[in-house]
Amino acid sequence: MSPTLIDRLPKAELHIHVEGSIEPDMVLALAERNGLDFPHKSKAGLLATYEFANLAGFSAVYASNSCALRTERDFYDLTYSYMRRVREDNVIHAEIAFAPQGASHRNVAPEIALEGVLAAMDDAKAAFGMTGGVIIGCQRHRGAEAGLNMLRRMKPYRDRIMALGLASLEVGHPPRLFLRVFEEARDLGWKTVAHAGEEGPPEYIWEALDILKVDRIDHGVRCEEDPRLVRRLAEEQVPLTVCPLSNIYLKVFPALREHNIARLLRAGLLVTVNSDDPPYFGGYVNANYAACRDVLDLSDEEIIQLGRNSFIASFLPEEQKCNYLARIDRIVGAAPEASGMKDVAPIGSGDRA
Ligand code: ADE
Ligand code: ZN
Repeated sequence: MSPTLIDRLPKAELHIHVEGSIEPDMVLALAERNGLDFPHKSKAGLLATYEFANLAGFSAVYASNSCALRTERDFYDLTYSYMRRVREDNVIHAEIAFAPQGASHRNVAPEIALEGVLAAMDDAKAAFGMTGGVIIGCQRHRGAEAGLNMLRRMKPYRDRIMALGLASLEVGHPPRLFLRVFEEARDLGWKTVAHAGEEGPPEYIWEALDILKVDRIDHGVRCEEDPRLVRRLAEEQVPLTVCPLSNIYLKVFPALREHNIARLLRAGLLVTVNSDDPPYFGGYVNANYAACRDVLDLSDEEIIQLGRNSFIASFLPEEQKCNYLARIDRIVGAAPEASGMKDVAPIGSGDRA
């Protein structure tokens, strides 16, 4: 089958939880490698738990499977596998979230886990010609004090961390509670992002912007309930890292045809497409693009705009952003029918920025 526009489109992934990128086979293999008494022995048994009523239901399965991750090598293998897999989707830049608090609560030193993630990213970047960075996530259900302790513990890695994020159970844990954590992150020179408006109300998006002063909103899809907020997001070009399939699997929308990503894009918001926790939610980033194309009738121009948005919304230096945007133009900028070109740029075929 010839590659589609989505295959050929260079893209960045900006919303992916590394622990959530663990494939079911790897859960079982690591549980065995680490000699754990894991509740599921078969893949079928494990997959039977992949049915989620909401974010809380998913988080329980996610936390249980994350227990398979014990050593630096586990985190290395996990991260490297993700990078190798998404390079097939033409992801050339990845900003990956890692949750130090999850590791400590499983009695894994977060420093050890982070070393594994960072080493794998370095190796994958060298092997696949990618760029990327790590976003350390504050888990909001553990409270602000715990978040602050985590941030301070991670300070020795300040130069190797790109940003602070805010994730886990949203409702009942409004962004404003985490003001101190975000202030300290900014003082370290980090960028900041926060999950807001996934299950939580539009007010949480306002708080993330006005109180936490985040650079990007993760999800943000419930903004549509507040037209004034939608206007602001469009005017200020605040990036939203939307995860369409995640939103379906976690019942944020009843069906993909009711998802608002196309409407938000057409209203001029800086939306991007991402996978969140791909093995749990039906696929990696290209599966998310393809599902939106098929169900929401995205045009080729809109698909290219989403690819461009992924770099515009990234934390790359401006010069590198321009290089990647120019690469999009070279590869898919002119529609193949219009240019008469059947331009296919296989991975690593000299399409470097
Ligand atoms: N952690 C992993 N996936 C998440 C999601 N969809 N929302 C909040 N926290 C998460
Ligand atoms: Zn997420």
